[in-house]
Amino acid sequence: MEVDTRIELVERAFKLLDNNDTTRVDDIYLSPVESYTSNDWLAQEQEILFKQYPLLVAFSCDLPNNGDFIANDDAGLPLLILRNQSGGISAFYNTCRHRGAKLVNGCGKALKGLTCPYHAWSYDLEGRLKAIPDQISFPNIKKSEHNLVTLPVVEKYGMIWVCPTAGKRFDIDEQLGGLQQGLVSDLQAYHFENYHPYAQRRMHCKMNWKLMLDTFLEPYHFAPLHRNTVAPILHHNLCLLDTYGQNLRETMIRKSIEKCRELPKQNWDILPHSALFYQLFPNAGLVMQRDHVELWRSYPIPGQVGECMVQMDYYIPEPADTPAAKDHWERNMDLAVRTVLEEDIPCVESIQVGLSSGANTHSTFGRNEPALIHFQREIAQAIGRS
Ligand code: FES
Ligand SMILES: [Fe+2]
Repeated sequence: MEVDTRIELVERAFKLLDNNDTTRVDDIYLSPVESYTSNDWLAQEQEILFKQYPLLVAFSCDLPNNGDFIANDDAGLPLLILRNQSGGISAFYNTCRHRGAKLVNGCGKALKGLTCPYHAWSYDLEGRLKAIPDQISFPNIKKSEHNLVTLPVVEKYGMIWVCPTAGKRFDIDEQLGGLQQGLVSDLQAYHFENYHPYAQRRMHCKMNWKLMLDTFLEPYHFAPLHRNTVAPILHHNLCLLDTYGQNLRETMIRKSIEKCRELPKQNWDILPHSALFYQLFPNAGLVMQRDHVELWRSYPIPGQVGECMVQMDYYIPEPADTPAAKDHWERNMDLAVRTVLEEDIPCVESIQVGLSSGANTHSTFGRNEPALIHFQREIAQAIGRS
């Protein structure tokens, strides 16, 4: 985030605080319950959002060395993301060209390339088919026509995006709202390429995939739900919102911001006095805290509108290589994870049950929940349900 923005956000926060106000839009928004309960709605989301859009799949630091790979099926298709021989990033369907077996699982290091576990066809780190055992049984097969199927991928700002449709092109800056806009300059300035993965959590939750992201999109629930965790630290029902195309930045204000009042304006800085949430359309959220960043991703489970797979990756600016550092980060992460796991998730799972009961036809988003409105509206528009 640029210095001017860091000052400007403090200024905007003080203006709201001094008026006992928050960012409000003109009107409430009625979000249809079927967006959380209809399998037809979900099928459209999967077809459009999870196949046509670039998805944030990793940070660069998850794949530091040539040959490092991550295999992931969460988007509904088998994806393989790999740091290739020249140090760039390649993405493929994780699907052998012989008879379709999955090449690798989880994450790891492919030192000499990839060998299919089924009949051992092997590929190099560029996805080129190198060897077919018992080659004489495959006469007239051109190896060059049986390379792994590549997927469009971009590595930028220390992050990696893949579009799970072969042949589709995307411009990540345009998707992030444009090069001249604040979101790109924020991401650039964080230098995520210098971060280190610290921990990862995966959760199978009994809620629609959007509900998981909804929970980050308003601080209107802080005082009642997070009384003893984040409410003592962050202001309740107070946020700033900036939108960038389909994405957004939501700034939640720490009570410590009062310290800025004693400083000359040029020394103001929102970063130590906020929790920033970047919603990266469609399914990723970055929680930017003073000293670390969390990447939250939520994926629908095909055909199960009321379930999702959530992955949280926790990145830190320096490696935690001493016991003292590990202890510090363990305690630090505990608050973030406990808040979401023990407070948000049980409450939001109860929302899924409530919405599935048929009690309500719509959810009512208040004027004070502008980020939530932006997200839901963009999703509905993207799938042609506006
Ligand atoms: S399916 Fe991969 S080698 Fe046969
Ligand atoms: Fe929460």
